[in-house]
Amino acid sequence: MEGNESLKPELASEAVDAIEKVVGTYPGYRRAHARGYVYKGVFTPNGKASPLTVAAHLQDEAVPAVIRFSNSSPVPTHPDADSPVKGMAVKFRLPGGEETDLIAVTIPLFFAKTPEAFVEIAHFIKSAKDGFPNLKELGGILLKYPESKAGLQMLKEMRSPASFATCQYYSIHAFYLMNAEGRRQAIKYEWVPDSGLSMLEKKEAAEHPADYLKEEMEERLKQGPVGFKLNIQIGGENDPADDPTIAWSEGTQVITVGHLMITDKVDTTADHLLFDPTNTPEGIECSNDPILHFRHRAYAVSYERRTHGQ
Ligand code: HEM
Repeated sequence: MEGNESLKPELASEAVDAIEKVVGTYPGYRRAHARGYVYKGVFTPNGKASPLTVAAHLQDEAVPAVIRFSNSSPVPTHPDADSPVKGMAVKFRLPGGEETDLIAVTIPLFFAKTPEAFVEIAHFIKSAKDGFPNLKELGGILLKYPESKAGLQMLKEMRSPASFATCQYYSIHAFYLMNAEGRRQAIKYEWVPDSGLSMLEKKEAAEHPADYLKEEMEERLKQGPVGFKLNIQIGGENDPADDPTIAWSEGTQVITVGHLMITDKVDTTADHLLFDPTNTPEGIECSNDPILHFRHRAYAVSYERRTHGQ
């Protein structure tokens, strides 16, 4: 079965409804990663992915790119420091007018293995927000979804970055690269910052202005472009390609396949861009990860609402 075809179609709306129930509705904004800033840049591949894929942007010609950095919170006014997981969504503009998206976050694991688990955990978060977290209920959730423990624990320990440019971003999901002979290789992506990693202590982060990351990027770009290496992690025999709650083994081979240079800010308040993690070009296929395919539907629901005044 490809992805999650057996899921009931309403589950994507239910997931977005669940997010709205937890935080409220902010018309015009994305239902997750609501506050973000858009930039433009150029991605230059180094040819090292060519034996693995025919994807146009991973050969030897540079392509323009649009980049959106975001806070993960669904609340657009949420202070940057209170929403430690950050997003980096990249749209590569391929020759011939095609586009492909690569969406990554600063955490390597997701807390839900299935869309049903996501919806149930979102409802639990709502009950925890209304009062004290019900520990018995949390225990019940972890018993039912033991695979969620690692991702939830990691979320708890996340710290805010000094800059969007000082984080490593992970695709979490696996994809298959397809080469000219039709050979398929499971990979995951990582963006590694040229500036190195830098996180803030909790107290230090709390003293920063609510939108310090926006200002920081503005200042940084005045000094010159912001760069990231694009790495691919090569999945081994025991690395599951369909489970976003499991990190791949430590020893997996990592290959740098290109470099992104972010050059300018794009002025947009309410942007109508849609980054879809399943939007892949010839030479790249989605894995069967049910969360990956579910995101395609949930993002369409959020896009439809936010671009129609809701
Ligand atoms: C059940 C799982 C998930 C649900 C229901 C969900 C839901 C959403 C929604 C509704 C949006 C707003 C879409 C839009 O209006 O354009 C969004 C954006 C986003 N999500 Fe997810 N998400 C899920 C999993 C993930 C995972 C695993 C990642 C890790 C890469 C991720 C990273 C992002 C990022 C970076 C954005 C912002 C994209 C942009 O800048 O346009 N999400 N998510």
